[in-house]
Amino acid sequence: MKDNRFTVTAALPYANGPLHLGHVAGVYLPADIFVRFKRMIKEDVLFVCGSDEHGAAITLRAKKEGITPQEIVDKYHNIIKQAFSDFDITFDIYSRTSNEIHHKTAQDYFTTLNDKKSFIQKTTEQYYDAEFNQFLADRYITGQCPNCANENAYGDQCEKCGSALSPTDLINPISTLSGNTPVLKETTHWFLPMEKHEDWLREWIKEGKLDGVQQHDPKLWRNQVNGQCMSWIDGGLHPRAMTRDLDWGVKVPVEGADGKVLYVWLDAPIGYISMTKEWAQQQNKNWEDYWTGDRKLVHFIGKDNIVFHAIIFPILLKEHGGLVLPDNVPAYEFLNLEGNKFSTSKNWAVWLHEFIADHPTKIDELKYVLTAIAPESKDAEFTWKEFQDRINNELADIVGNFVNRAVILTHKYYDANVPAKGKLTELDEDVLKQLADFPQRIADLISKYKIREAQAEAINVARLGNKYLAETEPWKISKDQSEEAQDRVRTIMNFALQITANLTLVLAPFLPKKAQLIRDFLNIEELDWSLAGTATILEDNHKINPEKPSILIEKIEDEFVTKEVEKLKASVKEIVEVKTDPQKELVSFDDFTKMDIRVGEILTAEKVKKADKLLKLTVDTGLDKRTIVSGIAEHFTPEEVIGKRVSVLLNLAPRKIRGVESQGMILMAENTEGKLSFVEPAEGFNAGSEIR
Ligand code: 2FM
Ligand code: ZN
Repeated sequence: MKDNRFTVTAALPYANGPLHLGHVAGVYLPADIFVRFKRMIKEDVLFVCGSDEHGAAITLRAKKEGITPQEIVDKYHNIIKQAFSDFDITFDIYSRTSNEIHHKTAQDYFTTLNDKKSFIQKTTEQYYDAEFNQFLADRYITGQCPNCANENAYGDQCEKCGSALSPTDLINPISTLSGNTPVLKETTHWFLPMEKHEDWLREWIKEGKLDGVQQHDPKLWRNQVNGQCMSWIDGGLHPRAMTRDLDWGVKVPVEGADGKVLYVWLDAPIGYISMTKEWAQQQNKNWEDYWTGDRKLVHFIGKDNIVFHAIIFPILLKEHGGLVLPDNVPAYEFLNLEGNKFSTSKNWAVWLHEFIADHPTKIDELKYVLTAIAPESKDAEFTWKEFQDRINNELADIVGNFVNRAVILTHKYYDANVPAKGKLTELDEDVLKQLADFPQRIADLISKYKIREAQAEAINVARLGNKYLAETEPWKISKDQSEEAQDRVRTIMNFALQITANLTLVLAPFLPKKAQLIRDFLNIEELDWSLAGTATILEDNHKINPEKPSILIEKIEDEFVTKEVEKLKASVKEIVEVKTDPQKELVSFDDFTKMDIRVGEILTAEKVKKADKLLKLTVDTGLDKRTIVSGIAEHFTPEEVIGKRVSVLLNLAPRKIRGVESQGMILMAENTEGKLSFVEPAEGFNAGSEIR
């Protein structure tokens, strides 16, 4: 087994939009907590991330916004980077795949594998959009997923069930460029023959062994990760194209490969290496130290990235040789929002940068809630009501309340000096024992990637403190002036303060700002983790901050929740499904000429009694003046229609509508939103002009 030195990566976010809370809860925040904790316990850890700036996710977004791919990545890279920094995510480096060092690293990597004959070059028929003159791969083509029937699967993956696909797997493929059904056309690409790797992958994933040597503990891999990988391997692996016919990306470094770039899922994970190199250069270190030997490589990702990190990238790492394979791939399920999926296109999202701008003092509160509901083993849901409940009932009532009582009573009784302990009771001994257990429990949970439970354990330290104060009631004993009673109060308050000091340690990975605030109350510097679990952190007579403590956790008012929910609902872009009726059955020319359609002028209009939808019109048809009943009263007032020249079907058999005989029909155009418009002729086409 490997030692405890870590290279931790968090999935490189596509620079095609801002980050929302789903991304944060299911990748970046847990990764940051893991890393912060490892740093606290002085394990060597490098934390790498950056923007993923290639692939169809970028070029399609650029097309949508009407700007160049470079402009798109510049815009969103900066927004994402700033949001991470404001949210206190402590990457050692946050870079981008458009950097030169990345292009060079990815090209060298490709060349190394190409020279080793790790790829096969093949000419195959691929889907092609003849209107746009473009081959269709990845997000350029959508269709039904053959595994889960999701109608919107991409050409390389289904985000719903997580399976990796090829365009030819899709049922009813459609080009996202033109909306047309694509045609097939020959092209040459470099393929990774994944089927050659099935055997070792099986042993590595199931048993954690490589060539019989134990690499990692497979029991620590999440079921979802093992399950997805094994079902993919058991289904049989196939050659997978590693290059694309596109002009945006890392150019294929082979002569004669003009117009071809590396597949984004080849270049992006190599980004972890190129970013390590970039960081190492800045730090005067050797990047290889972070990718070789007994170092543990850990990839924090969302579940839609599993096969890329647990199968494809490991094959590429192994083929390269000399590089470590992942020790774990903690993958997160999805977070939903107020009953629906996060959706960028519908703007159903809470954007991280907007939350920070609106609530700059609630960053740790958001971290707390996102970790408490993190989708570790199943999909989870964020609601503003739960945000309020968790902050008010857990953070404020448990942590805030305990810290406040400990600090305020110390001010009141001892003029802000830490009192010395006296004789310990059985209860005190029991509390000491419980306190001593926390650090290891939290460390174990974090090592097992159970970040959510680890945070709950940290909160339990405050619970222990609250319970201790509630059971010992120092405010009652203090009224008794006897030496024995006063000694007891000193002991209780010393314990309460030691527990508070412990909170600054156990909360630090999860709520770093709150931990700092508590340190300010106690007037202490950052503590060493080796002190966690002890009740001797604060020395007797240490002067805590004598100023009245500020509120550690402000409660969330109902109004806050209402406002946020309203904001979310108001921001939704209604996506109107375009429902176009299919063409009707053919009619003969003779059938058509039977219809007598002419321009008519509406002379009078009135509502039909007891019929909300109907207007009774008198229409000058050029032949006569006749009555027509039309179902347009919900769209037009009588005043609006008088004087309009419209198209009228004259020879429709008369029929009685609500007791009024209608002698023809006004023709209307209807759009996809159900709005109506008259079909009006141009000026000079007066009543009686024939329409044919
Ligand atoms: O799914 C995504 O958002 C990808 N941009 C993740 C890439 S992770 C890596 F391999 F770089
Ligand atoms: Zn699917």
